[in-house]
Amino acid sequence: LGHRVIGVDNLMLGRRTHLAEAGSNPCFHFQELDVNDVEATVSLLRPAMPIETVWHLAANSDIQAGGQDPDVDLRLTFLTTFNVLKAMQTLNIPQVVFASSSAIYGEHDGVLREDTGPLLPVSNYGAMKLASEGIITAALQRFLRRAWICRFPNVVGSRATHGVIFDFLKKLRANGAELEVLGDGTQEKPYLHVSELVDAMLFLFQRAADRLNYYNIAPEVGATTVRFIAESVVREAAPGATIRYTGGSRGWAGDVPKFRYATDKLKSLGWSPRLSSNEAVERAILENLKGLK
Ligand SMILES: NC(=O)c1ccc[n+]([C@@H]2O[C@H](COP(=O)([O-])OP(=O)(O)OC[C@H]3O[C@@H](n4cnc5c(N)ncnc54)[C@H](O)[C@@H]3O)[C@@H](O)[C@H]2O)c1
Repeated sequence: LGHRVIGVDNLMLGRRTHLAEAGSNPCFHFQELDVNDVEATVSLLRPAMPIETVWHLAANSDIQAGGQDPDVDLRLTFLTTFNVLKAMQTLNIPQVVFASSSAIYGEHDGVLREDTGPLLPVSNYGAMKLASEGIITAALQRFLRRAWICRFPNVVGSRATHGVIFDFLKKLRANGAELEVLGDGTQEKPYLHVSELVDAMLFLFQRAADRLNYYNIAPEVGATTVRFIAESVVREAAPGATIRYTGGSRGWAGDVPKFRYATDKLKSLGWSPRLSSNEAVERAILENLKGLK
């Protein structure tokens, strides 16, 4: 779009190699930095002012790890938001786009709409994403001019550093004869390809013009079972491997086993994805396999 972009990541999970292509663009600059270090963030950004918008995506993305140690999501999922806002206030940066999650909803029967409630998350990660949304809406009362809260479903695609496809491929690399799957395989969620997620976020940024814009982003067609993912990964990566389900309806404590997203709000603005949830998964499996070669 011709914007100047400063990318910041502490490389805890992010990888420099993923930025090789972006790095060749003269409008892009990358800095390894912990955004919880407000002073360092302010020092980095001050010479580049005026900055129009912060796209805040830094977080702990390993929900299971956050379940074992609540400090992880406090520091990486909530305080990153808190501290990014602090730096923004110091520098008078007026707009934020935030990567939120279906995890803020907790467990509900039926499809999740943007006004579904009560919001009772069942993971530390979901709790800290919900708190992040809250601190952003509070900042709108103080210094922020506009915010976009994008509630992602499960996102898949190339360059994954975590997630179900990444985990299955990792397990099969360690043991090509058997794939262990947490739960009974009936967990069922919508999966969106990362390319479509980026497209939807840019679309919202350009088209949703309220002071507070909050939207579910999801594929139009359905959801995908863990069984479908396991069978597809085995077919592509280790044909003949047996799949062993550990049993139980959820993968781990804090997992929401089934959900569906209503996307009418986003669709009413004019954005629809091209891939179904199953197609996004199949494409991501091939991309991740290619990335391993
Ligand atoms: N992938 C999904 O299915 C999904 C679903 C819902 C929401 N999200 C959200 O989308 C965003 C991106 O997630 P992702 O899946 O690309 O995961 P990711 O781990 O690849 O990206 C998060 C990045 O944040 C960086 N980071 C963490 N703490 C930091 C800190 N203190 N300072 C600077 N950088 C820091 C990590 O190194 C990593 O590169 C996250 O906010 C995540 O919570 C992802």
